[in-house]
Parts: sequence; C-alpha cells; structure tokens
Amino acid sequence: MSARMRNTLHSDFGFKLTLLPPVWLLLCVQLAVQLANAVAAKDLPTNFDKCKRDDNFDKCLVEAVNNAILLLKDGNKEFGIPPLEPLAIKSLVIDSGNAPITLKQTLKNLLVHDMISTSKVQRYRTDLNNHLIICDSKTDRIEMVGDYEMSGRILLLPITGNGKANLTLINTRIEHRLIGEPFMRDGVKYMRLKEYRVDLNPKRVYMQFDNLFNDRLLSQTMNRFLNDNWDTVFNELKIGYSRSFGKIFRDISNKLFEEIPFDSIFLSP
Ligand SMILES: *[C@@H]1O[C@H](CO)[C@@H](O)[C@H](O)[C@H]1NC(C)=O
Repeated sequence: MSARMRNTLHSDFGFKLTLLPPVWLLLCVQLAVQLANAVAAKDLPTNFDKCKRDDNFDKCLVEAVNNAILLLKDGNKEFGIPPLEPLAIKSLVIDSGNAPITLKQTLKNLLVHDMISTSKVQRYRTDLNNHLIICDSKTDRIEMVGDYEMSGRILLLPITGNGKANLTLINTRIEHRLIGEPFMRDGVKYMRLKEYRVDLNPKRVYMQFDNLFNDRLLSQTMNRFLNDNWDTVFNELKIGYSRSFGKIFRDISNKLFEEIPFDSIFLSP
C-alpha cells in the first residue's frame, strides 16, 4: 500500500470516527434489517421481468432471461452471486477414459471471458408441473484462459505438459436441461435445481496449451495437431467441460431459486 493510499484511508477513518454515535446506530438498524431479510422470502430483483404461467410463458421467458443474464453479468450482492464476466473457476478436472483419448486434464485459475455478454437464449420448452426447464442458447464466444496440467493420450499420441492454456469456443449452441425439485419453507413452495445438464456444441474450438512436453517445437507441432483435429479432441473433452459448467450454472441459479418462492418467479396465470 502506498503512503498516499494509507493517508487517505487514515483520514477517511478519522472522519468517520467523529461521526461515531450516529454511525453505530445506523449500523445496528442496518444489521437488524439484514437479519430480518435473511429469514424472509425474497423477490426477484426489481429490474427483472416476470412471466405468467400462461400460453405465452415459454416465449416470455426467452426475453425475461435474456434481460436477466445481462443484469447478472456483474453479479448480485443481495443473492451472493459473484461477477459472471469474467467467470472465475478455481479448478476444473477432466478425466476422460474413452479410447482413443485417455486423458487427465486439470484447468486451474480459469477465467471465462465473453460467455455472458455474447449469449442469447433462443427457445424455452418448460414443463413446470414436472419442474423441468429446457432451453437452447447460442454463445458467440467462450474464451477460457488459465493454467493447465495434463497427461495421457490423445488420438493414440502421448501428451503431457503444464503451463498456460487457452480454449476458445466459437458459436456454441448450448442445450440446458434444468431438473428441479419442489421444497417447502414456512409453508411456501420453492423449487431448487437438482441437476443442470449442459450440452456444448461449438462450431469451432481453438486450443493452445503452452509448453507441452516442456519443449517448444514439440509443443507447437502438438498444438497444430490438436487444432487440426479439434472436433475429435473436443468431443472427448466436452463431457467434462459440460459437467463443470452444469455445476456452476446450477449453483448460480439456485442462489435465486432457493431464496425466491416459486410463485414469485413464475407468476400464476
Ligand atoms: C485465446 O485464443 C483466441 C483464439 O485463438 C484468441 O482470439 C485470444 O486472443 C486468446 N486469448 C489470450 C488471452 O491469449
């Protein structure tokens, strides 16, 4: 911390000290309000659109969710949703045991760029009586950048390395399958997601794994090979990526679903 920053903080603090009694009072009131909120049912943020469960529901949801995604991009403090762009993923492990690719790949400290702002939901198919929501979306660009470690075989070739990785998915069609289950709290119905299945279908994948084999030339050759065969390679990896994204999407969705009653999210007709 620079001396100047310390000074500013210090004088800020000094300023607040002179206001101590009223500030304390405010804090106490605020804390009491927060505690009350923690117990009471919440509602969707006011700038979210809501949809009635009528004949137009699936269409209405497309627009409402497209707006909501953009509103959630920077996260939401009230619901404890972190910023989604870039989306930070601590670790993502892929264990692919299917020949011809047997691979263990770990991605760490991953930042996923562009995924939210270039996503558009295109269609919903819902069956809320069975707590099922299916949705098709398209994402222009998903750029995942972070550290990798891998060893195993791809297309019969041994592959090993660790360093920086960049996986970029272009024009990805995603099918989302949200499988919910109802639960009651204080006599009110809620729906949480048990499972969130994701199926990623990109038009193109660019891969760059720096430092494969700890050898610059071999690494270059292997990266070229991976990109030339991106669809075969990605098809083997995508179950792992899809599963990881599914878990992340489920946890984010549940931050809303577990706090907001079912009838406040999906209005009765
Ligand atoms: C990742 O790869 C994509 C596609 O090749 C490229 O456009 C992007 O600039 C790369 N990102 C980084 C951080 O290198």
